[in-house]
Amino acid sequence: MGTVLINGRVVTPEETIECDIRIENEVIESMGKNLIKENDKVIDVKGAYILPGAIDTHTHFDLDTGTTFTADNFETGTKAAIVGGTTTILDFATQNKGESLEEALNNWHKKAQYKAYCDYGFHMAITDWNEKVSKDMQLMIDEGVTSFKMYMAYKNLMVKDREIYEALVRSKEIGGLIGFHCENGDIIDALVDNAKKNHKTKPYYHFKTRPACLESEAINRLASIGEVAKAPVWIVHLSTEMGLKEIKKARAKGVEVVLESCPQYLLLDNSYYGKETDESFEAAKYVMSPPLRGKNDNEALWEGIRNGDIDFLGTDHCSFNYKGQKDLGIDDFSKIPNGGPGVEHRVYLMYTYGVCEGKISINDMSRLVSTNAAKNFGLYPKKGIIQVGSDADLVVLNPNTETIITKDKQTQNVDYTPYEGFKRKGSIEHVFLRGNEVVKDENFIDNSPIGLYQRRNVRNFD
Ligand code: URP
Ligand code: ZN
Repeated sequence: MGTVLINGRVVTPEETIECDIRIENEVIESMGKNLIKENDKVIDVKGAYILPGAIDTHTHFDLDTGTTFTADNFETGTKAAIVGGTTTILDFATQNKGESLEEALNNWHKKAQYKAYCDYGFHMAITDWNEKVSKDMQLMIDEGVTSFKMYMAYKNLMVKDREIYEALVRSKEIGGLIGFHCENGDIIDALVDNAKKNHKTKPYYHFKTRPACLESEAINRLASIGEVAKAPVWIVHLSTEMGLKEIKKARAKGVEVVLESCPQYLLLDNSYYGKETDESFEAAKYVMSPPLRGKNDNEALWEGIRNGDIDFLGTDHCSFNYKGQKDLGIDDFSKIPNGGPGVEHRVYLMYTYGVCEGKISINDMSRLVSTNAAKNFGLYPKKGIIQVGSDADLVVLNPNTETIITKDKQTQNVDYTPYEGFKRKGSIEHVFLRGNEVVKDENFIDNSPIGLYQRRNVRNFD
């Protein structure tokens, strides 16, 4: 018995076509007209878009920051993902100091296995570089972890330039891709120390101590290291116009830069940090790194989306409750856990503020939230595309509804959303994960965690 979606508008990276889709044995079995076979379940989705299940390239679930754990774990985070049309997430397994990559990977498997409601894969964040780690990068590739991450900021996580160089040379050798958090951590630490010495403790100073030029400086430095190492670099969560300019310069010189940004850097700006004189702690909700930037940056990134400079959008979902977690930094902004929620709303935000406002087409959107991620992270064409033989990860979006985003209606396990009160166009009426209908009319209809680990290939564009 199969399932046939009839009368939908199927979104491919290039065009939107009216055709039916028949699902059998977890994959797309056929596309076209007159596909119904005996005993098939038929769902009429007239007028709705059918999108490839979205892929979030950047989540942090069940992450221990040293003072607290993220509010969302793999259970709640993947539930939120799938309700919002994301059928695969790529989470950052993170190596603790002194730990092997294998140990870190095992930890992350334990966190996710049998708990995930959408499919998932891992990047490996390397925080303690040494010869064994270099050797074990191949082991990660063999385990389906074909991408890595290094931090250029955060005292306890950041690596040195030489380590970046050595890791890039190694990753080039084995076909991996390394993502970089680009901010100059040493200078940020100096600015933070100085602010605290001067009794500047409000969340506003999180933003003031992380100026835009420290992102573009790190991008420039990374691009030069990538050039010397002759390796591609993936820049995660780009937030600034200045950074984008550096990336364009690097690409013009032949450096291969894979570029990710996130909805918060398109839709939110630094006015959320309030004023220096504000007594309120509300700004803590927006304490994330990099911080929110200026409206000029929002515009420059939209332009980067429109002209194809930005390859895909993740969320950097790293949620902490306002009450009980963000307030760890009530007297000291540097103790506020960094990050915010987003996994649930990314597809809706890009549809509402990208497609419906005429900035991008629905086809551009499907590339940005799905196809390009699948290609860069070795999931294509199993995922990221609607075609015969691909996993039946399908999102049915009714374009004709409008509501408001609010924390009270969200699935993610956190007590606020940075998008409170934002309008939300469209509603996700069905989500299929490998052919299983798991969401109907924005609610779960199957309450078991059927998400599976995705062993990924190295980058593949064919
Ligand atoms: O503030 C953020 N983004 N926290 C998560 C860690 C990171 O920088 O990706
Ligand atoms: Zn992150």
